Amino acid sequence: MITGGEGQLGVALAAGAPGTVEALGRQDLDVGDPQAVARAVERVRPALVVHAGAYTDVDGCEDDRQRAWRVNAEGTANLARVCAAIGARLIYVSTDYVFAGDASRPYEPGDPLQPTSAYGASKLGGELAVRTLLPRDHTIVRTSWVFAARGRNFVRTILRLAAERPELRVVDDQRGRPTCADDLAAWIWALADRGAVGTVHACNAGECTWYGFAREIVAQAGLAARVLPVSTAEFPRPARRPAYSVLSTDAFTAATGIEPRPWKDALAEVLRDLDATGGGRQA
Ligand SMILES: NC(=O)c1ccc[n+]([C@@H]2O[C@H](COP(=O)([O-])OP(=O)(O)OC[C@H]3O[C@@H](n4cnc5c(N)ncnc54)[C@H](OP(=O)(O)O)[C@@H]3O)[C@@H](O)[C@H]2O)c1
Repeated sequence: MITGGEGQLGVALAAGAPGTVEALGRQDLDVGDPQAVARAVERVRPALVVHAGAYTDVDGCEDDRQRAWRVNAEGTANLARVCAAIGARLIYVSTDYVFAGDASRPYEPGDPLQPTSAYGASKLGGELAVRTLLPRDHTIVRTSWVFAARGRNFVRTILRLAAERPELRVVDDQRGRPTCADDLAAWIWALADRGAVGTVHACNAGECTWYGFAREIVAQAGLAARVLPVSTAEFPRPARRPAYSVLSTDAFTAATGIEPRPWKDALAEVLRDLDATGGGRQA
């Protein structure tokens, strides 16, 4: 069973599933409703739940902390509780935003957690619930900067803005790892296949700032817009984001034998998909 079945990752998980899956979108299952979660799990009787549903609007979470906590922390606890009751495994997708962002080397899964935003705190609440309620039957997969040929994401936003404006200003002092939703889905199924337990980080290889990411998108798409670097201070947002949230994928590679491909290669494939679907570039 997949939650968040209509999100970027949920769609990729359903498309790449190795067996029979039931992908439930928010309209089918609001994970914040404990009775609805119990009913859905009773009906589907999954051996495994991949929990990709979340309130992912990072600034929105800052403005509506109650909703962030209800969906991301309590929603995950609701699923973990029911999984424990029926003996199902749970794979929970978490975020680089559980870290403070002041490290000088890639974060390992066991590094101290100190979210700087309501979104990060609520996702960490979900992690703690999973570890407490399902101490053995869980995998927590932290990822970062997810993009796909569909849905709301940075790649599609930059393509739209670069088509509309001669210049784009993008922050150059937040560093992380862009991650392709299709790759992430395949890695999650590989973790499921191996029955991996505990926490891993799964992202594409390489790292950049949002400015570097935007420049690469514009260059690969052959657009004329100029991309200019700005600081976070020049571009204030409600949520504080980590300055450095590069995640080490060593534990993931040790568990699966998979070496993630560079994010630039994955980006090229997503841009090809957007071209093939015609007109789908605009978000
Ligand atoms: N996107 C990123 O850059 C990023 C980075 C790190 C980690 N992650 C994590 O990766 C996972 C997948 O994210 P994504 O990139 O696929 O995001 P996404 O495209 O926003 O998908 C999330 C899905 O969850 C749904 N959802 C929202 N509230 C829900 C609720 N109460 N019950 C059930 N579903 C609900 C959303 O539906 P609506 O659209 O209708 O609200 C959306 O379809 C999430 O756990 C996220 O926290 C994402």
